[in-house]
Amino acid sequence: MTEIKTVGVVGFGVMGAAIALNAAGAGYKVIYKELNDELVASMFERWVTKPLSKRVAKGKINQDDMDKLSGQISGTSLYSGLAECDLVIEAAIEKMDLKIEVFAELSKVCRKDAILVSNTSTFLIEKLMAEVDNPSRTAGLHYFFPANINRLVEVIKQKETSDETYSALMEFAKKNRKVAITVKDFPGFAVNPVFIASYVVLDSFYGDKLNAISLESISQEALGLKFGIMWVQNGAGLGTCFHAGVSMAEYLREADTGYPEMCEQLKKQFESGTPWDIEGGPITEIAADRTLVKERLLGAIFAISTHLIEHNVVSPDDLELGIITSLAWPKGPLALMNELGMEESARLIKVAVAAGDFKLPKKFADNDLTPWVLK
Ligand SMILES: NC(=O)c1ccc[n+]([C@@H]2O[C@H](COP(=O)([O-])OP(=O)(O)OC[C@H]3O[C@@H](n4cnc5c(N)ncnc54)[C@H](O)[C@@H]3O)[C@@H](O)[C@H]2O)c1
Repeated sequence: MTEIKTVGVVGFGVMGAAIALNAAGAGYKVIYKELNDELVASMFERWVTKPLSKRVAKGKINQDDMDKLSGQISGTSLYSGLAECDLVIEAAIEKMDLKIEVFAELSKVCRKDAILVSNTSTFLIEKLMAEVDNPSRTAGLHYFFPANINRLVEVIKQKETSDETYSALMEFAKKNRKVAITVKDFPGFAVNPVFIASYVVLDSFYGDKLNAISLESISQEALGLKFGIMWVQNGAGLGTCFHAGVSMAEYLREADTGYPEMCEQLKKQFESGTPWDIEGGPITEIAADRTLVKERLLGAIFAISTHLIEHNVVSPDDLELGIITSLAWPKGPLALMNELGMEESARLIKVAVAAGDFKLPKKFADNDLTPWVLK
């Protein structure tokens, strides 16, 4: 098995830089590629020199640590600059044609056994690797924002990914002090289909009766969250949330899973350029309104989670681990279903199905009410 020593990163933006710093911190030599020499220099200043100098000034690390860490990272504007890499992680912008081209170029310059992975949020890995020689060395490695703090990584096995590639990536994730879960190549992978469905359904209730702070409070109560789903959307950026939701509906709405349609409310809020207002306004105490939202929210989360298991996208334990680690929910969706009882969970899923958010998962169509078996 190729030992990973040198890691390439294509695109040194928000994600690429955090991935690089994470790998450098774990002892890997990192070479990043940007579009041109100016960006190679300015991105290093922005993501490495400035933040590390701040940490030195605050006494969090010393100058030697900073020099050592930054000395492990270098940049290039040429694909050929990545020729020595054992693993290359693509974190360029989310455009399918661009990513396909990046992998075609990497296939030309990298060794035939170098592992090539994408950090895409939405595209199927198999499609991105269409022009790569020896696709058995390709996979997905999906980090979560902020990638140097959020500990989850989804290791995505596309149908060509070899066991050797998969094992090398699991080992790489472990050395980077990440929590890795194994996921099949599926639109949005494992965590995002659950998270995106939850905010699209929640936002669809925004209006005269329910302001953003009420929806925030209902999501906190339903899932036991410290920071609710409206807060997380503001953090991720409503533009990102909107585009991701549109793309998930395009992939899955007509599939056998179904998926909630993008709501006008999120579209309008994103277009207004302002985040959800979760500071002001009264929180509704009207029980019927709160229950209605809570049931639709839980029903959607339970439905998509069941579909993911039935499609073998992820194991029940990895789904729980992924959601708890990346979204900081105190309990995963399957444990929540077990806790509420399968009869009640089935009722909530049927609420989601009746609302047109999802199709009925086979387990519940068969009236199989056995609880999920979790570790
Ligand atoms: N931001 C998130 O929350 C998040 C989370 C998970 C995954 N992702 C995915 O990570 C990827 C990067 O997202 P981001 O938020 O870091 O974007 P970003 O815009 O901050 O960074 C992208 C960088 O790629 C560079 N780039 C574009 N084309 C290039 C090329 N051909 N060669 C080298 N560099 C190139 C750009 O100059 C830019 O610096 C996207 O696919 C995104 O979907 C993002």
